[in-house]
Order: sequence, then C-alpha cells, then structure tokens
Amino acid sequence: MRFIRGNPVLEVLLGATCGGVLVLLVSWLQGARMPLEGPTYSRRTKDTLIPTLEEFTWQAQFPLPLDRESTQVFPFLLNHPNKCKVFGGAPFLLMLVMTQPQDQVLRDAIRHTWGNETIVPAVIIRRLFLIGLSSDFSYHHLLEEDEKHGDLLQVGFLDTYHNQTLKTLMGLEWVAQFCPMTYYVLKVNGNVFLNPRFLVQVILKPEQQRRPDFITGCIYRNRIPIRRQSHPQYMPLNMFSHARYPPYCCSPGYVLSGPLALKVLSIARRVPAVHLEDVFVGLCLHQLRVEPTPSPPNTFLMFGRLYNRCDFRGFALVHPFKHQELLLVWPDFQKANTPCPLE
Ligand SMILES: *[C@@H]1O[C@H](CO)[C@@H](O)[C@H](O)[C@H]1NC(C)=O
Ligand SMILES: *[C@@H]1O[C@H](CO)[C@@H](O)[C@H](O)[C@H]1NC(C)=O
Repeated sequence: MRFIRGNPVLEVLLGATCGGVLVLLVSWLQGARMPLEGPTYSRRTKDTLIPTLEEFTWQAQFPLPLDRESTQVFPFLLNHPNKCKVFGGAPFLLMLVMTQPQDQVLRDAIRHTWGNETIVPAVIIRRLFLIGLSSDFSYHHLLEEDEKHGDLLQVGFLDTYHNQTLKTLMGLEWVAQFCPMTYYVLKVNGNVFLNPRFLVQVILKPEQQRRPDFITGCIYRNRIPIRRQSHPQYMPLNMFSHARYPPYCCSPGYVLSGPLALKVLSIARRVPAVHLEDVFVGLCLHQLRVEPTPSPPNTFLMFGRLYNRCDFRGFALVHPFKHQELLLVWPDFQKANTPCPLE
C-alpha cells in the first residue's frame, strides 16, 4: 500500500511481526478515530466555509452506516423501500441525486429533464433525491412533494457541505438495504446537465457483462490536498496528512457498479472520515485496491460548457449547469432525429 509505505511510523510497525506491536498499532489506529473525551457534537446549524476542528471531529467520530453495533445510525425519515423492486429483474441504473431540502424547483426541473426514469428506452432507471435536514425548511412541504412524486429519501442530519460524506454513505447504505441488485449507482449533484442516454449506452453499455469493480467519472489523480484554511476544500493536516490524494472521481457525478458500492460502504468504517466525499470514496477505493476506470476523454466536463445540441450529445455530464437553462434547452436536446455535422 502506497500510503503506508509513505509513512515511516506505520512502515516500521507493519514491518515487525511481533503480535504486541500489532496490538499497539490497532489501538493507535482506534485512538486516531476516537478521541478519549468522547463525542462532542456540534450544536451549530449554520454551515460555514471554515469548519472548526470540532465540526470535523463530528464526522470522524460519527458511527458510520452499516456499523450495526452502533445505536446511533441515522434512520431514513422519508423512504421508499420498494423503489427498486422491479418485476423480474433489477434496475440498471439507480440515480442518487444530491439536493438540499429547499431545492424543490431544482428537483422539478430534474424530474422533467435528465431525471426522467423512462428516458432511455428498454433500460430500467430509478431516481431518488437524497436530502438531509434543514433548520429553516418545513417538513410539511417535503411530505407534500414526496406524496406527489415518491422520490425523496431523507436522512436525519443537517444537510450541509461538511456533512456530504455522510450523505453519500447514507445513499450507499440505502443501496445495501433496499437496492443491492442494481447494476449501477450514479451519485450526482443537482447542478449538472446529465445525458442519461450517453451514460447508459456509451459508458455503461447494458449489453456488456457486469463489471464488479467499476467506477468512472472525471478522475483526479495525484491531487495535492489544499492546506489554505479559507478554501472550501481545505484539508487539515490532522485529518489527512499525506502529500497527495489517491485517485478519485470528482464529486459532481460518478457512477459505480452495485457490487462496488457495497464494498465501498463496508470498508468505509475502517477509513478515517474526511468531509470531502469524493476524496473519501477515493480513500475507500485505495483500501480496496480498486482503480477508477477512465471514461472516453471529455465526456465528464467539470468546468461548464455553453449549450450546443451536437456537442452535448457526446457528453455524459456537464458541471455546473443552471436548472433554468436546463429547462430551456431540454426540448432542443430531445430532437434526436435532427442530424449533426460529421454524423
Ligand atoms: C419522460 O420521458 C417520456 C419518454 O420520453 C415522456 O413520455 C414523459 O412525458 C417524460 N416525463 C416527464 C415528467 O417529463
Ligand atoms: C452534521 O450534522 C449534524 C447532525 O445534524 C450536525 O450536528 C452537525 O453540525 C453537522 N456538521 C456540519 C459540519 O455541518
């Protein structure tokens, strides 16, 4: 393991075969996860760009999903246990769309555009919006919305930027409990343009054999952790001290096979929590010794792109993309029979 090799202390410890040293190592690792003072839950409800260390430790201490020993695992407050029950099969693609409670307009736009479950002929897609709690948004509104659409999955913790690792893990936990047979899981943020047909037909390929250890998206390699406190992706040294992150798929949208989703979830307990969910999944992959699979070049765009039907046909995902614009361009994008140059 590259990480351990980079760490002289761990290297010495691992190099020794004496059982006593192993016990020491285990307690050292546990100590790193669980400070002696016990949990100090932060009472703050506002998300700030610069989280205090206390807020970071909240995640580090949190009993991760699938930790069945723990009594503190968050329940699903809104749930659709039968969403994935498909007569005679399993969904090909489960879309877990990350939005916040108050984003109702955004969710409606997504339902009418790329979140449409029947948009790819002959392929079973299921869509769920993953949301957390908000201190200033009424649960009543959400209930109403959910009664209408039946697609909200609510988890019982504050929906903040710094809780996004937990949100992703709760999504994977839902897969484990209610959708373990799905071929693929897409974790996608709400502020994107997604091209489900391209994603399914060109990248995932329903006719191809299952690929158990498959994960793809825009892949970051050898990224250096940002140590500047004012940056949203600030990574404190005591949370992650290595010089580089292992490869990971960037947060706006990545897709992984159902079996890999379950593996990531079960190893997650043993990986120290970091609040950047994409980095965290990368750390889990590293532990699992799974490398992300590259997608064709320029198919997951991270820096936006002006809409153009012919260009967009060849993208899987464009980030960021405003939902107002999404609604405007979608009818044009559906003109499948209008030829493009070079076709
Ligand atoms: C979803 O797509 C199907 C097939 O293209 C279409 O008939 C249906 O109206 C769409 N649903 C919504 C909510 O846009
Ligand atoms: C994460 O959620 C918990 C539980 O709702 C909350 O106490 C905590 O402040 C949140 N953490 C951050 C960093 O927002």
